[in-house]
Order: sequence, then C-alpha cells, then structure tokens
Amino acid sequence: MRNLAVLASGGGSNLQAILDHLATLGADAPARVALVVSDRAGAFALERARARGIPAVHLPRTAPADALEQTLVEHEAHLVALAGYLRLIPAGVVRRWAGSILNIHPALLPAFGGHGMYGHHVHDAVLAAGARLSGATVHFVNEQFDRGAIIAQWPVPVRQDDTADTLAQRVLRVEHRLYPWCVEAVARGAVRLGEDGKVQGAVPYDFPRFGVEGPRHPFVPDP
Ligand code: GAR
Repeated sequence: MRNLAVLASGGGSNLQAILDHLATLGADAPARVALVVSDRAGAFALERARARGIPAVHLPRTAPADALEQTLVEHEAHLVALAGYLRLIPAGVVRRWAGSILNIHPALLPAFGGHGMYGHHVHDAVLAAGARLSGATVHFVNEQFDRGAIIAQWPVPVRQDDTADTLAQRVLRVEHRLYPWCVEAVARGAVRLGEDGKVQGAVPYDFPRFGVEGPRHPFVPDP
C-alpha cells in the first residue's frame, strides 16, 4: 500500500474524487491518502481530510523552505498528487520524489499553462484565445510549472456561450474522472517516468466508453 500525499490550495474536489475512487477499489486500492497539505489555512481540502481522520497540515508561505519535504518524510509519503496546489514545488522535493509527483491542470498542455495559469485565469485565457477545445491534463511534476511529462489528457468542447465558470465546470467533471485513474495507474506502477524523461505505460481509459454523460463525438465527450 502506497502512502499518497495530496497538496491542495482550494476546495479539494479533486482530492474528494481521489478519496472516492480509492474507497471504491477497497482492498484492491494500491494507495491510501495518508496526508493532505495546504498553503491556505481556510482551504476546504483540509476540512475534507480532517473529517476522515487524515492528517491535515497547513504550511503557510512563511514556512521554512524545507517544511514541505520534512512533512512528506514525516508522513512517509511515497506519492504526491497536486490537486489545485498553487505553489511551485521546491527542487529538493521534485528530485527526491522524481516520477512520483503528479499534477492536474485544467487545460490541454502545453497550451495555457505556466506561471500564473491556475483556476479561472486558465479558462479566461482559453476563451480569449477563441480555442474550440480545452480539457484536463495530468502530468509528472518537474521544476517548472506545468512542463513535466504528460501522462493523460481528456478534451472537452468550448461552447460559443461559455463563461470561465461554465468551462471550468465542464473541465472539472472530466478532471474528477481522469485524475483518480492516473493516480491509481502510477501507484500500481502501470505508468512510470522513464530515465529518458518520457512516460512509460498508459492509463487504461477510453473517452467514448467513459464519456461523462455519453459522448456526441468519438473523441470529445460532451459532459
Ligand atoms: C482544478 O480545476 C485544477 O485543475 C486546478 O485548480 C482546480 C482545483 O479544484 N489546478 C490548477 O489550475 C493548477 N495550475 P479543486 O480544489 O476543487 O480540486
């Protein structure tokens, strides 16, 4: 059983999706959420953890530079999942957990990623660019925001009348499907970061079959 640390700055709906998925797997679950960390004291993600008796740690911006690493070591974290965590992961943590840190981003990377691209900023940029597709990307984390090797992506359509809110909702619904599968696949060792920096293995998902409410296009499920 792998110990998974989830890092979140906000509501933690992706944390919830991971918790629910691992609960569904029951005894077959390859990991358990052993720690939740947030840089915001008021993050609802911390509440979700406390309600389940999972250690919930607030690490403010003023915490010492090595506080995250110490906390992960203390809780014997094998895997780390960033779920709406807005701070850059220190290089020491990236090195120590190389190939074991995942992030989810609410757009199709490498477009609409990078420093400052989080939450509604991402969806605003997608709408301003007039992109017809957006989606969710899960990737391994390296020293740069949103630049690590891509594990899986799930596209969603951008509609003419979308606002950042409606697009965020549509993307979030596929995030909740995609992220737990990726976490499971990495925890099982079915997906790995190779020495060459490329992803080995694949997450067994299938858009048409798992369309959130039934796909209208074979490659673009319409949630
Ligand atoms: C999610 O949409 C996630 O992809 C995004 O923050 C949201 C967190 O929601 N992450 C980023 O923008 C990172 N660049 P949640 O707290 O409800 O899981």
